[in-house]
Amino acid sequence: MIGARDGQTLIGFVYGFVGLEHGRTIHHSHMLAVRPAYRNCDVGYKLKLAQRERVLAQGITRITWTFDPLQSPNAYFNFCKLGVVSDTYKINFYGPETSSVLHRLGTDRLWVTWLLDSDRVQQRLEGKYVRHEIDSQAPPLVAVDAEGWPRELALKTALAGAYAFIEIPSDINSMQQQNAEQAVRWREVTRHGFTEAFAAGFHVSDFFRQSRSGQSVGVYLLSRAQTGEDLR
Ligand SMILES: CC(C)(COP(=O)(O)OP(=O)(O)OC[C@H]1O[C@@H](n2cnc3c(N)ncnc32)[C@H](O)[C@@H]1OP(=O)(O)O)[C@@H](O)C(=O)NCCC(=O)NCCS
Repeated sequence: MIGARDGQTLIGFVYGFVGLEHGRTIHHSHMLAVRPAYRNCDVGYKLKLAQRERVLAQGITRITWTFDPLQSPNAYFNFCKLGVVSDTYKINFYGPETSSVLHRLGTDRLWVTWLLDSDRVQQRLEGKYVRHEIDSQAPPLVAVDAEGWPRELALKTALAGAYAFIEIPSDINSMQQQNAEQAVRWREVTRHGFTEAFAAGFHVSDFFRQSRSGQSVGVYLLSRAQTGEDLR
């Protein structure tokens, strides 16, 4: 458990424990939270850096955790800022309903792996990472349409190349309050998209934000190429 303080006030923490995954010793990060007033100021990022340092000092080179793939800020934080990868989608990981406000759409999760000493992570942390242009831009497997609904493409077309894309709305929490049916549809469609793409050999390798006709969307980049590390 590592805390971040502003004076005497605890403003954030990260909590995890040692675990075994596929026979390998890992650190599993169970919780990360920053008080709302202190968000988007790198507190979460600094907590993860501190966690990484301490875990590496124990001789462990990977940290795993889960997050809701419909939460755009978390997707950006995990894939873009930290450089995690994921090839595993867990349906209702904590059961279909819990008391947490984070769980109103069920508890589907991406299981992510932070390969602490990999080139990918080093580059992200040193600010040296440059997103390469992707030659053959496949149409997204799931796209945000003009009314904010998910539009699905045929799997065969979207998963034909080396890369695939899954878009998500930028603010699923507001959508859930304004149009619960639309939010639930997003869960169903992205669950299908991720599970099919993983079954076809893709993994999530990045996430970025895009603005389209005044609408902000998040985009997952899925790659067929190996991460260079065995995630299993
Ligand atoms: C997730 C959480 C810990 C991040 O902490 P934080 O201190 O805000 O994190 P940081 O400031 O280091 O980074 C946040 C990034 O998200 C980005 N972001 C904010 N809103 C976003 C959105 N709608 N879509 C995409 N990215 C967004 C910010 O721009 C920032 O990136 P930048 O530094 O490149 O500008 C915090 O939001 C939180 O406590 N959330 C509630 C609990 C939770 O979800 N825990 C994590 C479960 S995995």
